[in-house]
Amino acid sequence: MDALQNKLNASVVWEQLERKVDRMISLIGDKSPHVAKADGKYDDQRIDWWTSGFWPGMLWLLHDMTGKPHYKEAAWSWDERLEQRMLQPNYFDHDVGFQFLHTAVFKHKLTQNEDAARRGLFAANFLTGRFNLSGSFIRAWNSDKHGWSIIDTAMNLSLLFWATEQSKDPRFAHVAREHANTVLKHFIREDGSVNHIVCFDPETGEYLEALGGQGHAPNSGWSRGAAWALYGMVNTFRYTGDAAYLRAAQRVAHFFIAHLPEDHVPHWDFRANKSLADEPRDTSAGAIAASGLLELADQLPGEEGWAYRDAAERMLLSLYENYGTWDNEAHEAILLQGTGYKPAGENVDVSLIYGDYFFVEAIAKLKGWKNRIF
Ligand code: GLY
Repeated sequence: MDALQNKLNASVVWEQLERKVDRMISLIGDKSPHVAKADGKYDDQRIDWWTSGFWPGMLWLLHDMTGKPHYKEAAWSWDERLEQRMLQPNYFDHDVGFQFLHTAVFKHKLTQNEDAARRGLFAANFLTGRFNLSGSFIRAWNSDKHGWSIIDTAMNLSLLFWATEQSKDPRFAHVAREHANTVLKHFIREDGSVNHIVCFDPETGEYLEALGGQGHAPNSGWSRGAAWALYGMVNTFRYTGDAAYLRAAQRVAHFFIAHLPEDHVPHWDFRANKSLADEPRDTSAGAIAASGLLELADQLPGEEGWAYRDAAERMLLSLYENYGTWDNEAHEAILLQGTGYKPAGENVDVSLIYGDYFFVEAIAKLKGWKNRIF
């Protein structure tokens, strides 16, 4: 199907999504889904793994859009489950943003539940505590990676901006801005491509080196990293009004859009190879970038935003027409052909719960969804 010939009908896609998510509720049950491989069954990851918020986030989003109580019922206990895990030995890291924004924060926004707000603030304090004052970055991972920072954290900053709004304590937003400035300085390259990992001396804060991480190489163009940067920087602009973040988001958007193949769905790394024909796609990067581009279009009303919305719609149309599981009722995921961590040979050509979440989120935005989690 030639995606360019068609226009996305968000209402038709949404109806299909509702039916799909209804089936997913009974198929997924209490699992914490991360990856579905060829058998179409989502795994059951440990709840302190970074992806545990996306499934409940999708349920809250469906509830917000439809008002139907069964989505709320299925989503309700997730923030409490996460809190329980937080109080035991665990591996939580900077990704408490992805985990608590979609559960505690979303729940509080929709229900004003005070326990949910408390849990969101607890997670924001945890994230703030990972800030390295010498290097002005939020530490990403645990073990001995004291000086490692990664682009993905740009998305988790929304938890800190929310915490300042919620508590009226500006410290959270101060930390978020400091980290965002480090993203501008050390992660987003002049051409709009993005580093995945940047290592600093944790004592002096001195920049040491950039690493390829989940991308192909230190100087390559990991598409999901670019999607995190694009979306994270436009969010930071929305919270701060500082145009430096908006321009950075645009630069990454231009790099991303310019490197899309004919069907508008990105390869896992835009510089994995001279010829990308045999390289796997990453539908999750496409879904995240599409939702980020819609945010960018919203922040640039009028002509300046048109091209971004257009690009997002082309990507979403192709994801819908060419990468969905619509004809397979038993499949527990929505999108196929995600790539998790290609250099390690992990999770290539699979379904990824975050790809599914951001696809639903982007379609909801096209349908006029106004609440924001990020
Ligand atoms: N946040 C990890 C990833 O994007 O795979």
